[in-house]
This record gives sequence, structure tokens and C-alpha cells, in this order.
Amino acid sequence: MKPEDIQASIYGGRRARLAAAMREGLAVIPTSPERIRNRDTHFPYRFDSHFYYLSGFPEPEAVLVLVAGAQPRSLLFCRERNEEREIWDGVRFGPQHARERFGFDQAHSIAALDEAMPKLLADQPVLHTPLGADPAWDGRVMQWLNAVRAQSRAGVAAPERVHDVRALVDELRLVKDAHELGVMRRAAAISAGAHRRAMALARPGGTEYQLEAELLHEFRRHGAQFPAYWPIVAGGANACVLHYVANAAPLAEGDLLLIDAGCELDGYASDITRTFPVGRAFSAPQRELYELVLAAQAAAIAAVSAGRRWNEPHEAAVRVLAQGLLELKLLQGSLGEVLEQETYKRFYMHRTGHWLGLDVHDAGEYKRAGAWRTLLPGMVLTVEPGLYIRAAQDIPERYRNIGIRIEDDVAVSAEGCEVLTAAAPKSVQDIEAIKRDQG
Ligand code: GLY
Ligand code: MN
Ligand code: MN
Repeated sequence: MKPEDIQASIYGGRRARLAAAMREGLAVIPTSPERIRNRDTHFPYRFDSHFYYLSGFPEPEAVLVLVAGAQPRSLLFCRERNEEREIWDGVRFGPQHARERFGFDQAHSIAALDEAMPKLLADQPVLHTPLGADPAWDGRVMQWLNAVRAQSRAGVAAPERVHDVRALVDELRLVKDAHELGVMRRAAAISAGAHRRAMALARPGGTEYQLEAELLHEFRRHGAQFPAYWPIVAGGANACVLHYVANAAPLAEGDLLLIDAGCELDGYASDITRTFPVGRAFSAPQRELYELVLAAQAAAIAAVSAGRRWNEPHEAAVRVLAQGLLELKLLQGSLGEVLEQETYKRFYMHRTGHWLGLDVHDAGEYKRAGAWRTLLPGMVLTVEPGLYIRAAQDIPERYRNIGIRIEDDVAVSAEGCEVLTAAAPKSVQDIEAIKRDQG
């Protein structure tokens, strides 16, 4: 088999699984449109994750149609080859080459879609398509359905049911296959290298944006196409702003620096946070809080294993943090009261993780029928406890304005989990060794 045949078989296998889950009817899934940033300038193009998961096809202006039933078949509608446009914008696959290369049963020009859809929908019992994601798409789907309904006197029936196809695809995406895990390991390794670089280069007198530049440089030079989300480079009190992305401040001796940054490689996200001193070493209070978050993260990672519930890592982290906050006298009462009344939320207000995959906050439900779902081998999630101690009258001076988060990406296995991002240093000893070596 040629490498491209292997790729085509991966996506073909996913389409077959979706067709089996649908059992009958038709799925129609568009990729993302190109988006204008400002006059004559586009945002970098990123395909739709659901579409890409089922096709591997990277171009805009493309729609996948999947016919379920006894003999499932897949059709791609995509841009025609166009010599003039290809001179300006680069090569296009065109339907014929796309069909061969990506293993579709048929491929047609995207210009034929509106004419083809009413015929494809005729006498199908159900239509699966993304609903409510894009008003323009919803309107187009309704036009196709109305075009089929208009033929009712000719004995043609329109689908009676329209389902949001994302629910079925989300379930498939939740458990990663070997190909996906391979890409995610490589994305994680690139991001871990970027964090090591930022640790080594951070110093008093530098700025947050210089480190942002180092992170982006490291992602791109290893082949990652994008950051998976805009990096957070937050020195000192900025680390207490959860979605700080200004990255504009100078770095000061004595401050901690929180960096939340991960690359996207071949469509797959990585998501790492490290917190470390701008200077050479943690101060005593910084270290107390840091060791507490690290212990909470270790407890959470120990709770990730096939058969455990989604919520167990979060509960493990919260218990360790709550106990530690009591011991540091940042909270009062008993452990039971702190957990019951959730007073820890003043310092730890987010959850301990999320699914990770093609999207940084990846597809998939966290609860099913009211119960936290059970972890299965191949699921990938982040484990990211933190503490954010804003300045206030009742907070001892030494703990004020310290924000800490430690985030790793883990793949669930039968025995526990694989920490994909383990190459990013996080023990006090390893971090201080890097800072010492920087001279
Ligand atoms: N970087 C996004 C997150 O941690 O959820
Ligand atoms: Mn995250
Ligand atoms: Mn993150």
C-alpha cells in the first residue's frame, strides 16, 4: 500500500463507522468557509474538524455526502481545477484527483451541489447535517428539503427527520485511533520543546511578547501549522486573569510566569501550561503554592484510567487543593465544609480538564443520561489544576497575585494513562536546573 492509500483507508473506515451509526439516510457535512480578516486579507484557512475527521480533505468549498444503508457510499463535492486561480492561490485537487487520492466513491464539482442535493435527498428517511452552526448552511438545507417537498405530487418523499450529525460524529471522535494518537504525541512533543525553550529564555527585563514569539517560532519550525489557541504568557498578577492574551507586559525578577501554549499539528491540538520563576528560583511562598498544585495534578493524573469516571480526576485535584488551602490558612473550616460549600472556588474556579483532539476543547459529551461518563482507552484529555490568589485584604501579603496552573495532555489506557506532554519539565528541581543552566 502507498502511504496515501493508508491515509484514505483511515478516513474511509471512519465514514463506514458513521454510516453504521446512522443505519439509514444521508449525511451532508460541509467544511468551514474562508473568512475575511480585513479588506483583501483572509484569516489563515482552517478546515472544519468534523468534515476533516471524515475526509482528510484540506481545501475550502467542499461538502461530504454519505449515504448509509446496505451499501454505504461517499461523495465529495469540491472545487474544480482552475488554471487562473491556481496561479494566484495554489494547486487544487479537483474532483477526479480528490476521489482517487481520498478514496471517495464519487466526486463532483461544488458548483453542482444545489442541483444534486434534492435528487440525493429524494425518498431518504432521514437527513443528518450540522444544525444551528451556520445560518447560511441551515437556509441552504431548507431550500433542498423544500425542493424535494415540491415534487411530492410526483410521488417523491422528503426526509421526515433532520438530525444534528455532530452528535454521532462527536461520539466517534471521542476515542482516538492509532493514527490520531501518533499525531497527538508529535504535537505534544513540539509543544513541550517550546515550553522548555521559553523557560530557558525567560528573564527579568524581557517581555511576555518576546516569549510568545519564541513559542510560535518553536511550533512553526517543527512543522506545526498553527497555535491550537492563542498562547497565554502571563507574568506576575497577569497569571490570575484566566484568559489573559495581551502578552504585553515586562517580566520582573521575583515574579512567576504562567505560560499556556500548545501547537496544532496536522489538525490536532496540544495544550500545555507551565508556571515557573522569571528569575532563577521559586520564592518560599511561590514554592508552597506550586508544590500544592503539582500534588493536586499528580492526584488527578493517578485517577485517569479506563473504567474510572470523567469526574474522578477533578474530584481528586479539588480534594488535594482544598486540604492544602486549609493548611496554608487561605481557607477556614473543615475539609468537608470546604468541599460542601465549594469555598475553594475563590482560588480554583475552573474544572480540571477537557477532551482534546482536533479541537482544543474537543468534541464529546462529559455526561450521559445524567452520569459522568466512563473513561475508555484512547480518550485524550487535559489535566490542569491551578490556584489563582488575587490580592485582597484577607490574603497574606506573601501569597498575593500568584497564579499557577500545571497542564498536561493524557491518553487513557487500560492500566492508567500515557502523559503525552511529559517532556515539558514541571518539578521544582527540573525547572530550577533549566533556569540555573541559562547562566
Ligand atoms: N488553553 C486552553 C485551555 O487550557 O483550556
Ligand atoms: Mn486546557
Ligand atoms: Mn491550556
